[in-house]
Amino acid sequence: MQQPSSNGRLTGRRIVVTGAASGIGRATADLFRAMGARLVLVDRNADALQTGAEGEITLALDITDPEAATQAIAGAAAKLGGLDGLVNCAGIMRTGPTAEVTPDTWRSVIDINLSGSFYMVQACLPFLRQSNAASIVNIASGAGLLPSAKGLAAYAASKGGVIALTKALASDLAPEIRVNCVCPGMVDTPMADGHRAGVVNYALKRMADPAEIANAILFLIGPEGSYVTGATLAVDGGRTFH
Ligand code: NAI
Repeated sequence: MQQPSSNGRLTGRRIVVTGAASGIGRATADLFRAMGARLVLVDRNADALQTGAEGEITLALDITDPEAATQAIAGAAAKLGGLDGLVNCAGIMRTGPTAEVTPDTWRSVIDINLSGSFYMVQACLPFLRQSNAASIVNIASGAGLLPSAKGLAAYAASKGGVIALTKALASDLAPEIRVNCVCPGMVDTPMADGHRAGVVNYALKRMADPAEIANAILFLIGPEGSYVTGATLAVDGGRTFH
């Protein structure tokens, strides 16, 4: 069984975080760093990636390119001597009436949110298989559980796909690798701009701070989540029960 470490819950754990330049990904990287993890920070917006510890690796990577992902992750894993975890945070949201969603918009939302997450799992897999405590956390969305606003067809489909992908991978990769997903409600990041009004219907009547989502990711990626796999954890201020 994975045991919590006394001097940091993730001490020495080598973890890839995508979307680490902003929002939830950045908050996750900040928390994991404070917990002693050795990080590989991935984003297509590499200029905005902030490293915070010596030896931290930044990768300017578009996760929709599987060959580039495989190569970049192999290089990072070689430098760190392996990998223990992956958090798939990179994503985009595009909204609009169904009749007006262009094929390009549809493809880019599915490519980044769903296919990109899968390519990252494939890129990390050979190294995660060598770890004695491997764990993957995918960031889906409350929209993948219950799309409660209009104009979410592409985004909700991509996130519903992430939820199903999580369960399929939890089965495929067991017992060596745990795979779970988090479904945030509205979170105070650039992605939420223009969509903030909906939180009046949440039980907690507010949006989340990105650090509150990072805390849930920490539980699932780390030793405290050692008996959890295939789970879909809503961290949504009571949106989906309310
Ligand atoms: P954000 O927009 O602040 O950050 C997303 C990051 O992903 C950006 O740094 C962006 O450059 C990166 N990214 C986008 N496409 C990429 C690609 N192809 N390759 C590499 N990097 C790429 O967004 P936020 O809010 O931090 O979202 C993180 C995840 O949480 C996303 O999957 C999002 O769908 C999900 N989420 C966010 C919610 C919110 O209210 N903010 C609610 C529910 C889920």
